[in-house]
Order: sequence, then structure tokens, then C-alpha cells
Amino acid sequence: MKYLGKKTALLLALFCTLAHIRAQIVPFPYDIQKEATGDSAMVVTAHPLATKVGLDVLRKGGNAVDAAVAVQFALAVVYPQAGNIGGGGFLIYHGKDDQTAALDYREKAPAAATEKMYLDSAGNVLPNKSRLGVLACGVPGTVDGMWEAHKKYGRRPWGELVTPAIELAIRGYQITEQEAQNLNEERFTFIRHSSIQPAFVKLENWVAGDWLIQKELAVTLSRIAGYGRDDFYKGATASLIVNEMSKTGGLITREDLRRYKSVWRTPLEFDYKNLHIITMPPPSSGGILLRQLLAMTGDHPLKDSGFHSTAAVHLMVEAERRAYADRAMHMGDPDFWKVPVKKLTDMAYLKSRMADFQPNKATPSAKVTAGQIKESEETTHFSIIDPEGNAVSVTTTLNDSYGSRVVVSGAGFILNNEMDDFSAKPGAPNLYGAIGGKANAVAPDKRPLSSMTPVIATKGGKTWLVVGTPGGTTIPTSVFQVIVNVAEFGMSLPEAVQAKRFHHQWTPDKIFIEEGALTEAVIQQLIEMGHFVEPRDPIGRVEAILRLADGIWQGVADERGDDAAGGF
Ligand code: DON
Repeated sequence: MKYLGKKTALLLALFCTLAHIRAQIVPFPYDIQKEATGDSAMVVTAHPLATKVGLDVLRKGGNAVDAAVAVQFALAVVYPQAGNIGGGGFLIYHGKDDQTAALDYREKAPAAATEKMYLDSAGNVLPNKSRLGVLACGVPGTVDGMWEAHKKYGRRPWGELVTPAIELAIRGYQITEQEAQNLNEERFTFIRHSSIQPAFVKLENWVAGDWLIQKELAVTLSRIAGYGRDDFYKGATASLIVNEMSKTGGLITREDLRRYKSVWRTPLEFDYKNLHIITMPPPSSGGILLRQLLAMTGDHPLKDSGFHSTAAVHLMVEAERRAYADRAMHMGDPDFWKVPVKKLTDMAYLKSRMADFQPNKATPSAKVTAGQIKESEETTHFSIIDPEGNAVSVTTTLNDSYGSRVVVSGAGFILNNEMDDFSAKPGAPNLYGAIGGKANAVAPDKRPLSSMTPVIATKGGKTWLVVGTPGGTTIPTSVFQVIVNVAEFGMSLPEAVQAKRFHHQWTPDKIFIEEGALTEAVIQQLIEMGHFVEPRDPIGRVEAILRLADGIWQGVADERGDDAAGGF
């Protein structure tokens, strides 16, 4: 047994927690490292405290999966807008022996979900219904996912890996400026959608440096430390989730929780020039999209055109337009819909998709009703390398910022609003402006289509790049740009990650650009070619690790947030 046993363990976890309280304090304001190097190990996450937790596990002899488990639980405490135990995610593994694995711990629709559950009687979409409150929640997969990953690869005891999160929850931690701002913005949505006043709500405004203490979450995590995944899916935490549902008309039942299982899937693997890419298959669209984008642009002399030149942006956008059209039509949960992965990733097919590409003219997207891309970044990615050379790439989410804003009373954690990733109605845009049809319609027990794209790229069988990001539908195009920036434009990893980004997703027919991404001259030329260009807020928060020529690991955390890298 790798996990602690029963009640003694629970008491032990609490005891350890209290005993370590003072030792773990990290001075505030945090010393956030955006770049780090290490000849042995590297951790890059969305929060400096989570990065520290991962490094501590690796220093104690834990491997990359142990560190990933500890980081996932730590992020559930210190990064509540996306770190979670009430959501789901995907994990990509590449072992030092070149073994690969892909774990799908995506949320599932409850058994009582129906295809038209987000429509009114006239058949119109009720967008808030899939985004806020209990009806937005899928059955969470994170705790089972961590349990499965640990069962297969973990080395350190389970309880030990959950303990740092318990400590952070019970002792509290000081919030950053960005976190204070986010919590202030969400005060009323939390009050409205939770049946109790959660720890995230305070009468006065939160300010940087305030302590966020999450006692209920600490108790939940202690139970998970002691009893493992069964607490969440069959035990006391399951009861609290079902209780929350019954108070407010939610659909998740005890049976839904009991039946939840994460799934080991065959990773999507393909070659791109001298790289071998290992990434997520459906129910993510991300891996297929990345393959399509790299294949559709790979033959063209991107490097000669130049970084963010009109020709390079035009080519990349035209590939994105075509790839996202495929996403809307063909992709969904493979357990429910036959996703034609082979065809969609076939080189001949992809060449044919670009047959009508015109180097000087935009191809207008098909006329399909579509909405705006919402401007928030509330998934999170972390990348880890352990001293033995095993690598883990994890993207995990509640979907929107703070998910459904439902905090399970008595359990202290936020439930996801992943149901919005389904297509509520053919052609109706979701939160990210993504449209879909039958392939991604709501159905009982089905997983909503995702864009999350955790990637490990290898060279000669050895890990070369670990990368991923949040950003909804912008995830695949952000990962695409980081890979192209390094592999084609010859940028250093810090340059590649911090470079401004752009995004096109077929519908709406617009190139979204971060401020300053493109020069006025390039924007003008793109408009003359028939493109529509629209500025938007920052795109993505990339966490990446690269093996440098001398074998040293370089970690880079995105400057767009509080993200932090650390290595040794
Ligand atoms: O699975 C997906 O594709 C989305 N639920 C991810 C959400 C996300 O990245 C939020 N950040 N903007």
C-alpha cells in the first residue's frame, strides 16, 4: 500500500500538518523566478508556492509523477481559479526509458444530462445555465486522475504528496495582486452560486498580502490523504457534493461519482521534422489540431518569411482556420463519437486541406454563426522534469475562472463548469466562441471536447521540450506558436514563451492579436489580404522546459501571470 491507512492516517495527516506549519512559510511578496536552470530537475507552474511544493517532492526523492500529484493538490489551494480537485485535466508522461502515457481525467456529464438541457422551450441557448451554478458542473475527475497516475508511476506515499496542500490550506497563504483582483471581481458570483459563504468571499476588498485560509478544504484534503480517491467518489466528500446538488437542483448523483473513472489513452504521437511530439488524443481536440497546424505549415519556409511577418502570420492563420473547421465538425468524446483521428492527421489529407491556400489572399471562413472569444485564462498548466529524466506535462482546469462558482459547502472546493465545453446546440458558440455539432452534443456520461494540449517533444528518444498552457480554444495555437518559435524561428525558450501571440479559430473569422503582437504595417497588409484583425487581452500562460545543448534544463514561466519556474 502506497497510501496511508484509514483513520490513523487522517489523524497523522492533520498532525503532520500542524507540526510543519512554521517550517513551510515562504516570505511575501514572493520571489517569482520567470527563468530557471537546473542540471537535474525542473518545475514550472502557475504559482510560486506550487512550484516550491513540486521541487520539495523531487528533492526528497520523488519522481515527476509524485511531484505532479503534489503540485495538482497544491494548486487546488493556492490557485483556486483553475487549480482544482473539483475539475479535471490531462496528463502526458514520458519516462526516461522512452515509455509514453496519456491520462484522461476529464469531467463527465452526469447520467441525468440531456442533449437539450441548455436550451429554452423555444430552442434558444441559455448560456449562463452551462456556465454558472450547479447545472454547469461535470462529474470531477481530478482526484481519480491523481490516484491513477500515482498507482501506476508514483514512488512516494500518497498521503505525503497531499500533505503540502493540506498545510497551505490550513495555515493559509498570502495572495498576490492578481489573485486579489480576481477574487474581488468574483465576490458576487460566489455569493450567488454557493449555498454558504465560501472562504473566497470577504466583505472588504482583498488586497495583495492578505491571508487566504481554507479550513474546510484542509479537512477535505486530509480525508483524501487518508482514505484516497474513495473518499471523494464514495465517502464523506461524495456525500457533501451530492448534498450541494440536492440543495440547489444539481444533477450529479452518488452513482455518477461512484462510476467515475479516469482513462489511460494511447497518446497521440507524431513526428515533426527532427522532433517527436507526444500529446493528448480525443477527448481533447488539442493534439489533433497541433498535428494539423505543424503539418499544414511545415512545408513552407516560415523561417525565411520571418517571425510575425505578414507571410508567416497569414500562413499560420490559414492553417488554423482549416484545422478549427475540422474541430467543429469531427471532434468529440471518442467513447461516444467516432473521431476520424487517422484521417484528420493524415499527411495527404492535410496537404489537400491547404490546396486552396493563396499566399496573398485570405480564404473567408464559411458563414457560420459564431460569438466572441471570452477573455480570460483560467485553466492551468504545469511542466515537470525529475532527476532521472522522467517528464510530466499536465493541463488541468475548472474551465472558466473559478468554474461554476459553486463551492461545495462543508468541503471548501470549487466545482467546474466544464459542461459549457459541450456544444449546447449545433452552431451556437460556447464561452470560447467554439462551435460544434452532433460530435460534441451533451449526452449522459460523455466527456466534453477539450482544447487542452499538454505536450512533450523528444529528440532521439530523450525529452527535449515540455510545454502547455491554458486559454480555451487558444491553447493549441499558443502551443503551436511556442514550438514554431523555437524550432523554426530559432528563438531561445524565454523569447518563445514571452513573445506576443495571435489566434484564429475559423469562426469568428478574425485574427485575435495580443497588443503589440504585430506591427501596424503587418496588420494593414493582412487587412488588405482580406483578414479581419481584432486586439484582445493576453493569450495563454505557457509553462515550458527545454533541454539545452549542454544537457541543462531551462524552465520558463509565462510573464502574463504569477507563474514561477524553479530547478536544481
Ligand atoms: O478543456 C478546455 O479546452 C477548456 N475547458 C479549457 C479552459 C481554459 O483553458 C480556460 N482558460 N482560458
